[in-house]
Amino acid sequence: MEVKNIVMLGFGDMGKGIAQVCLMAGYSVTAVDVSDEIIQKGLEYNRTGFEKLEEKGKLPKGATAATIMEKLKVNKNLSNAVKNADLVIEAVLEKPDIKQQLCKEVIDNSPEHCIFASNTSSISITEIAQVCDKPENVIGMHFFNPAPLMRLIEVIKGDKASEEAMDIGVKVAKTLPCLRGERYVARVLKDRPGFIVNRVLAPSSIYTNYIVDLAYENEIPWEQVDADLSNPNAPMTSLTLADFTGRDIAFNAGLYYAEKISADFKPGKVLTMHYNKGTLGKKTGKGYYDWSKGRPQPDLSKKAGLVDRRVFIAITANEGCRILEEGVVKSWKVIDEAIQAGMNFPGPMQYATTNYKELSNVLEEYSEKLGKSYLKPCEMLKSGKFVDMQ
Ligand SMILES: NC(=O)c1ccc[n+]([C@@H]2O[C@H](COP(=O)([O-])OP(=O)(O)OC[C@H]3O[C@@H](n4cnc5c(N)ncnc54)[C@H](O)[C@@H]3O)[C@@H](O)[C@H]2O)c1
Repeated sequence: MEVKNIVMLGFGDMGKGIAQVCLMAGYSVTAVDVSDEIIQKGLEYNRTGFEKLEEKGKLPKGATAATIMEKLKVNKNLSNAVKNADLVIEAVLEKPDIKQQLCKEVIDNSPEHCIFASNTSSISITEIAQVCDKPENVIGMHFFNPAPLMRLIEVIKGDKASEEAMDIGVKVAKTLPCLRGERYVARVLKDRPGFIVNRVLAPSSIYTNYIVDLAYENEIPWEQVDADLSNPNAPMTSLTLADFTGRDIAFNAGLYYAEKISADFKPGKVLTMHYNKGTLGKKTGKGYYDWSKGRPQPDLSKKAGLVDRRVFIAITANEGCRILEEGVVKSWKVIDEAIQAGMNFPGPMQYATTNYKELSNVLEEYSEKLGKSYLKPCEMLKSGKFVDMQ
């Protein structure tokens, strides 16, 4: 089956960017959203985006902003919009019941071959698919924000999805250009919480919660903790980034992983306090830092000396090994490449191939120290069996 017509369901922050790369790849795109205002903003974003790319000579050969925009239609009636769709990419609110309802509506009203791909960050693809008549046609296509600039797309197999649907998802994803480097598509073989990148990075929060709670109890200034936690080459310090993303997002992610994977992910004292007080970071003007005068510029000249940086690499390598054990991916290289493409920093696995014994010892020590059994090294890491899974 050749994909020609794509429906972009949800034209918000993610949807408008995903539509942009689909259009650049030459697909016809129909955008569907319930909000007229969002549709107008999405059209404007795409028009000005293509005009800028045209000026810079970065549009595909022979295309102009005007010819590309001709391939973008809008339609507020979903059942009607999907009549000729080959692929529907869904990026509406992160609510399971809404995604399920829309998945059913799409499958009921689209051609037999049409694939429904959800951009969810956390909801199970299998769960979304279970209410529709063709779960074999339901996959995940998880883009990173903003979709035109972030290289990674994770294509996720719902438990009942067919290999053919996966092949089509991967094939389309590979055709979508990235404006900053080469597109990287990771095939996610099992539908497990967080897929690859979010999952591997998630348990670092267990250690961060411990550090910030310790600092709070000892009245150590956030700037000093931030100096410990931050990578000097990163575009933002760690605590600035935590404020920028939003403390509510971190709080909800903690609850989500606590429910799905281990109670050790439960939000710590400081995070819970920020959430309850509404000091959510940039969006409320205050989090760790004051944002009322714009982005804070913390002074990192003095360190608190609380952080052992080996712990982060040990925790992420351990989680990488867990998803290898679970069969989410078959190769540690995919994990490293996905993290690099989705987050712009290197993954932990290459380093772990020669240092897994030391990393396992670090985890034994810190799981005791923090009283968190989830931090214990898994068999795959301890034994080094993953090394051959290239
Ligand atoms: N923002 C991110 O960084 C990011 C990254 C990866 C994945 N995601 C996922 O992408 C999805 C969308 O996130 P977003 O940040 O673009 O949200 P958003 O709020 O910007 O956009 C959601 C859009 O869905 C529309 N919508 C709501 N109900 C609808 C319906 N019944 N039919 C059609 N449109 C409807 C809303 O009007 C809105 O425009 C979520 O599932 C989110 O978890 C987000």
